[in-house]
Amino acid sequence: MSEAYPITEHLYDVVVVGAGGAGLRAVVGMAEKGLKTACVTKVFPTRSHTVAAQGGISASLGNMGPDDWRWHMYDTVKGADWLGDQDAIEYMCKEGPAAVIELEHYGVPFSRTDSGKIYQRAFGGMTTNFGEGTALRTCAAADRTGHAILHSLYQQSLRHKAEFFVEYIALDLIMDDDGSCVGMLAWNLDDGSLHLFRSHMTVLATGGYGRTYFSCTSAHTCTGDGNAMALRAGLPLQDMEFVQFHPTGVYGAGVLITEGVRGEGGYLVNSEGERFMERYAPHAKDLASRDVVSRSMTIEIREGRGVGAGKDHIYLHLDHLDPAIINERLPGIAESAKVFAGVDVTRGPIPVLPTVHYNMGGIPTNYHGEVINSSENNPDALVPGLMAAGEAACVSVHGANRLGSNSLLDLVVFGRAVANRAAEVVKAGAGHRTVPPGSVEKALQRLDHFRNAKGGTPTADIRANMQRTMQNNCAVFRTGEILEEGKTLIDDVRKSMTDIGVTDRSMVWNSDLVETLELDNMIGQAVVTMHGAANREESRGAHAREDFPDRDDEKWMRHSMVRYDESGKVTIDYRPVHEYTLTDEVSYFPPKARVY
Ligand code: FUM
Repeated sequence: MSEAYPITEHLYDVVVVGAGGAGLRAVVGMAEKGLKTACVTKVFPTRSHTVAAQGGISASLGNMGPDDWRWHMYDTVKGADWLGDQDAIEYMCKEGPAAVIELEHYGVPFSRTDSGKIYQRAFGGMTTNFGEGTALRTCAAADRTGHAILHSLYQQSLRHKAEFFVEYIALDLIMDDDGSCVGMLAWNLDDGSLHLFRSHMTVLATGGYGRTYFSCTSAHTCTGDGNAMALRAGLPLQDMEFVQFHPTGVYGAGVLITEGVRGEGGYLVNSEGERFMERYAPHAKDLASRDVVSRSMTIEIREGRGVGAGKDHIYLHLDHLDPAIINERLPGIAESAKVFAGVDVTRGPIPVLPTVHYNMGGIPTNYHGEVINSSENNPDALVPGLMAAGEAACVSVHGANRLGSNSLLDLVVFGRAVANRAAEVVKAGAGHRTVPPGSVEKALQRLDHFRNAKGGTPTADIRANMQRTMQNNCAVFRTGEILEEGKTLIDDVRKSMTDIGVTDRSMVWNSDLVETLELDNMIGQAVVTMHGAANREESRGAHAREDFPDRDDEKWMRHSMVRYDESGKVTIDYRPVHEYTLTDEVSYFPPKARVY
C-alpha cells in the first residue's frame, strides 16, 4: 500500500519546533542574531498552550517587598525536592528579573502597583529569607499572564522576520549515523504536502504530554510530540515519573483555576468546613508546594471529608474577597468558574480536584538547552544539532516538583539561552550536512503505516484506554502493586496499536490520522512514565510511593534516564544530579527535610 511521497526541501540555519513561550523566545533570539530561522508549529502560534498560563511568572524583582534571587533559588531547590540541577536553577533564578524586564520591554501589559511597578503576587513555596516569610514574587498580567506573554513574543518574532510554518505537524527527527541531528520532517495539514527542514540546529519546544491522562489542564494539543521524536531517535527522556497534579482543576472539567487565587487570599475547605491545609502545612498552609497540597486534598477525600454528593472533591473559597479585587486581578477564573462549574465566585466556592498539569520530566538538556545523551562514561554527552526548551525539556530546574510560576520563567530564560548558544555554535549561511540515505524513508514509514492502518480498533478507544490507565495507575499516590499492574495495562494498550483502524487516507486535514500520530507519540511517553514510576522506590516531590514513603537520597538522588525501543522494551539508567552551583555567588543547598 506504500506510495512515494513528494517532499519539499527547506534550508535554514535553525529550525524551532513549537511556538509556545519557549519556542517563540528562542525564535526571537535566533532571528535577532541574524540566523535564518524557521518555526514549525502544529497550531497557530498564539493558540499554543502557553496562552492558558494564568497566575504569572516568578522573578525576584522585589517590587512589593524584599526579595533576592538566592531566596528564589533556595525555594526552587526545595520545591524540586533536591532533584533539580543546582547550576541550572541558579542560572534561571539569577536571570529572572532581567527576563521579566525584557518581556516588559517587548510589550507585555503586566498589572501594576499604585506606583506603576510590575504587580507581584504570592505563589506556593515562594518565600523570603530561605523559608522564613512569604515572597510576593509572581509577576502577573491579571490572570492571563501566558496570553499576554505569548502575544508579545509572537509580535517580536514577526518583527525580526522569523519565518513560520503554521499547522505543520512534525513527524520525526532526521538523525545522522554519528548521532547528530540534521533536520526534521513535517506534514503540512493544510494541503497535505511533506517538508524536509534541513538545519544546523533543531530546537524541540513542543511542550508537555498532559493528554496521556484522562483529566488534565493541558490543551488537546499537549501530546509531547518532541519527546516522542527523541525517544524514536533512540535518545533518553529524563525523570518521566514526575507528573505534577495542580491542586485546583475544576471538578469534572479539569479546567485550571490559578494558584493565584490562593495567592490573593483564597483557601481550601473540606466537608466539615475546615481549612485543612493548616494541619498539613502549618506555616505555608494553602500556599505549600503543589505536590503537598494535592496530596493533602487526596487524603481528605479518601478519609471521607470530601465535599459534594459523592464526597469526591474539595471547595476553593474566594467569596470572602472584595469583588473589586476579583474583577481586577482574577477576571478569567471568575469566568471559568461560571462557565465550567456554574459558580458565581463572589457568592460561593469553586468545586476543585487535583488535576494533571505539568511534566517535570522530558528531554534532558544542560542549562544552554543542548540535548544530552548520557552514557556511563559521559553523563553529560551532547547530541550535536539538537536542543530543547520549555516543558519538553528537562534542564532540570524543576526536579521532582515544579513551583507554580516557575514554568513561564523557565520558558523565557531557557528559550533565550538556547538562542544565545545557537548563535555561538551555528555559522549563519554555512553549508548543510547531507541527509543520510534511508533516514527520511524511515520517518515516512511511520506515516505510511498509520495511513494504511485497517484494524478494528478506533484511535479514540485506544486513547481512552491509555488515559484511564494513566489516571488510575500513575496518580497522586502510587504503590508498587498498582504500578506493576499499570505496566502490564499500558504495555497492553501499546500492543493494541497493532489493531488500530484509520478511516480516512487523505493527507489534507485528516484529523483521524493526526490524532493517531499524536496517540502513537503519547503511548511511548505513557509507557516510560509508568515504568519509570515503578522503578523509583522512594517518595520525592510529585512521586509519592505509599510503599516507600520516605525520600532516599543515598540511593535515589539521581536522574532516571529512560529509553524505549520499537519493540516496546524499556531500559532505565541514571545520571548524577548536579550538586554544584554555577558561580560562587551562592553555595550549594544540601538536602534537608522538606516541610512547609
Ligand atoms: O496556577 C497557575 O496559575 C499556574 C501556574 C503555573 O503552572 O506556573
